[in-house]
Amino acid sequence: MGKPVYMVSGSKGGVGKSIVSMSLIHYLSKRGEKLLLIDADTANPDVGKAYSKTVETVYINLDEKDGWMDLVNRLAVQPDETVVVNTPARSGVGVKLYGTLLTESMQELGRELVTLWVINSQRDSLQLLKEYLDTAGSHTTHVLRNLYHGPERKFELYNTSKIRATVEAQGKTFNFPEVADRISDLLHSERLTIEKVIEVAPIGNRAEVNRWVKECASVFDGVVA
Ligand SMILES: Nc1ncnc2c1ncn2[C@@H]1O[C@H](COP(=O)(O)OP(=O)(O)O)[C@@H](O)[C@H]1O
Ligand SMILES: [Mg+2]
Repeated sequence: MGKPVYMVSGSKGGVGKSIVSMSLIHYLSKRGEKLLLIDADTANPDVGKAYSKTVETVYINLDEKDGWMDLVNRLAVQPDETVVVNTPARSGVGVKLYGTLLTESMQELGRELVTLWVINSQRDSLQLLKEYLDTAGSHTTHVLRNLYHGPERKFELYNTSKIRATVEAQGKTFNFPEVADRISDLLHSERLTIEKVIEVAPIGNRAEVNRWVKECASVFDGVVA
C-alpha cells in the first residue's frame, strides 16, 4: 500500500486551507514521513513559497484536465511519499469536471485519498462541501471547523446540518485551532515555515507556536488514526 494523499480543500478563499496545509506538513514531517507537496494554488502558491526549500514541491493547476492527469501520474512515481495537496479557492469547478480522474485512480495507485475540508461559519461553505462529497464518493472526507472564524458554537449551520451527519457517517469533524495573528503573519507574509518561526521567534511567541502546534497535532492524530 502506498502512502496516503491528503487533499486540503474547502473551495472558498480565506477559510484557512493554506494554514491547514502548512500545519499538516509540519506534523507529518515531525513524524518522519517523506513528503511531497503539491501546491495547486498556482495563482498564489503561498504554501509552496514557504515550504519548497524544505519539502519536495510540485505546482499543478487543477483547473485544467491536464493538471489532474499530471497529478495522477505524479502520484504513481513515488508511492512512499505522503502527499499534501493544497488547493485554491473555487477548486470545486475542477473537482466537479475532472475530479473522478483522481478518485477513480486511487485504487490502482494503491493509495488512500483523505480530504480535509476546511470550513468557516457561512452557508456557502456547506453547499460546496455537499457537492464535493458527491465527487469524493467512497473516499474519506473530514471537516475542520477553523476556529479562527469563531468558537465552535458559531458553526451552528454546520453543527445542526444533515451534511454533518453525512460527513460523520464516513469521517470526522475536528476543531482546527487558531494561532495569534503575529504568528500567522510570519507564515503568510514572510513565507516562513513553522519550523523556522519556532527557531527565530522570541520566547513568548515561541510558546504560542508550540501551543498551537500541539493542538494541531491532536487534530492530525485523529486524521491519521
Ligand atoms: N487557524 C488560524 N489561525 C490564525 N490565522 C488564521 C487561521 N486560519 C486562517 N487564518 C488567517 O486567515 C487568512 C486566510 O487563511 P489562508 O490559510 O490563506 O486561507 P485560504 O488558503 O483558504 O485562502 C490568513 O491571513 C491566515 O493567516
Ligand atoms: Mg490558500
